Amino acid sequence: MMMPKFTFLTTFFLLFTLILADGHDGHDGHDGHGNDGNPSDILAIRQTINLYPFIIDSKNYIALNTVFTQDVQANYSIALGFLNGLPALEAALSRPAPVQTMHTLSTQTIDITGDGTASAMTYVVAWFFGQGAFTGQFFNVFARYDDTLVKVHDHQWLINTRNVVFLAPFIGNLSIIPTS
Ligand SMILES: *[C@@H]1O[C@H](CO)[C@@H](O)[C@H](O)[C@H]1NC(C)=O
Ligand SMILES: *[C@@H]1O[C@H](CO)[C@@H](O)[C@H](O)[C@H]1NC(C)=O
Repeated sequence: MMMPKFTFLTTFFLLFTLILADGHDGHDGHDGHGNDGNPSDILAIRQTINLYPFIIDSKNYIALNTVFTQDVQANYSIALGFLNGLPALEAALSRPAPVQTMHTLSTQTIDITGDGTASAMTYVVAWFFGQGAFTGQFFNVFARYDDTLVKVHDHQWLINTRNVVFLAPFIGNLSIIPTS
């Protein structure tokens, strides 16, 4: 009686392992050796990506140069379109809107892809809170940041490409932003 059960479990485990391995090989063409970079590089990359919500939510757009390279290519898709270069990105992000935002980052992977290059995927839920007549109203955006980064100084990494992948419909009161 033990044998069939063991075989079933072994098969299940092997299948599961294969699925995981396939999932990992399936994105960005990594060599399967992600995260074996210097831990201080991983921390520096995480720090750079984490700065973005604080800058955006405090509307301190001038500090975006501590997150992105001057020649960043960012595709914000349906939200802001394709933005070529930091001035274009800064202009799009700082367009006045009568909302308070809170960008909350969560699940993340970081891979060192070469000497001074890395890629990262980060989930984000962004909250948009209405002001004035819309106080108490909000909507949510669910997305993933697919970033590549370059090491610019010994301890600093900057994002040089960002693709924003929207993962679900926007939920909430979209009329708090007049153009939506
Ligand atoms: C930006 O991303 C969208 C959605 O993935 C895609 O359809 C579009 O072609 C991209 N634009 C550029 C210029 O890469
Ligand atoms: C959005 O908020 C405004 C202001 O509170 C309200 O009048 C309107 O009904 C809301 N719309 C939706 C779809 O909830």
